[in-house]
Amino acid sequence: MKKVDHLGIAVQSIKESLPFYTEMLALTFIREEIITNQGVKVAFIDAGNVKLELLEPLTGESPIAKFLSKKGEGIHHIAFEVEGIENRIDELKEKGLTFISDKPKKGAGGADVAFLHPKQAHGVLFEVCEHTREKGESNHE
Ligand code: CO
Repeated sequence: MKKVDHLGIAVQSIKESLPFYTEMLALTFIREEIITNQGVKVAFIDAGNVKLELLEPLTGESPIAKFLSKKGEGIHHIAFEVEGIENRIDELKEKGLTFISDKPKKGAGGADVAFLHPKQAHGVLFEVCEHTREKGESNHE
């Protein structure tokens, strides 16, 4: 694991929760994005050494909708940045860990993402992600 890349936070509404971060805490909004395959809208916030990823469900079928109805708003996952995500997944699987989906999926910003099963992680949902850098894209996080 290279470092914590971002913290995922489930919210009912990005529109309603964003001012808390940008106005009250005076953090910088980075960008908003719709991730169709996960049924979520996300907003990234720059929190200095880490990003915050606000997650709003787009449909009742979204895993975030289920999380919100069970637990309410709050911390949803911790994402580690890795290099060579397929190999890292294989290594963790060799150690006996299971992933929610075996192959990485496309997440925000075109990153490859996969989630470890929280049961084996003592109740924490961990994401591993790898940013694939397109030509011309800046290297800043
Ligand atoms: Co995430």
